[in-house]
Amino acid sequence: MKFKGIHHAWSTPIEYNRFNIAGLSEHILTYYDMNNPPSDLGNYNIFDKDCKPINDLKRCAYDNFKNHIKYMYHVDIDTYVTTMKGWITGHGNNYSMSIHNHSGAQFSAVYYAMAEEDNKGGALVLHDPRSNANRGFDDRFQPHFKQIKIQPKTNDYVIFPSHVYHHVDPFYSQFRIAIPIDLYLFED
Ligand SMILES: [Fe+2]
Repeated sequence: MKFKGIHHAWSTPIEYNRFNIAGLSEHILTYYDMNNPPSDLGNYNIFDKDCKPINDLKRCAYDNFKNHIKYMYHVDIDTYVTTMKGWITGHGNNYSMSIHNHSGAQFSAVYYAMAEEDNKGGALVLHDPRSNANRGFDDRFQPHFKQIKIQPKTNDYVIFPSHVYHHVDPFYSQFRIAIPIDLYLFED
């Protein structure tokens, strides 16, 4: 074996970024029923709508995926046929999302178009994908396997590999718009 030194094997890059899309929250609050928002079930895709705030979101989401994947994986997604699928998650009293991942996509993200309130719960919690990796380790090792908890604010954009299991803590805000976005890469 030629390799000498430390190899941080099987890292799981999670990027935490921010951008603002003018008019997006207003657009969503005007055109969608936030008590019954379009979920990921069925063929719904928020990017099918052709209007400025949605097109701006699509471009920004794509550019952030592109930069992230270039920097972390040294792959240019422009060389693929790409599809992005987005939807809107619910909100309100005691909303939560049980643990899941986004199988089928390669990369996933959540854009928080609106997340203004503090102390209302709703953290995005990402789990160590090395399932049972902490088995047999005592408490002193546990920080290496701990969940990543992100308490979102307006304009936050979180990117992670789609295989990473995650859940959303219960939250109670009436003023939150979270848009999950999946990126699919297809070879030409
Ligand atoms: Fe999710």
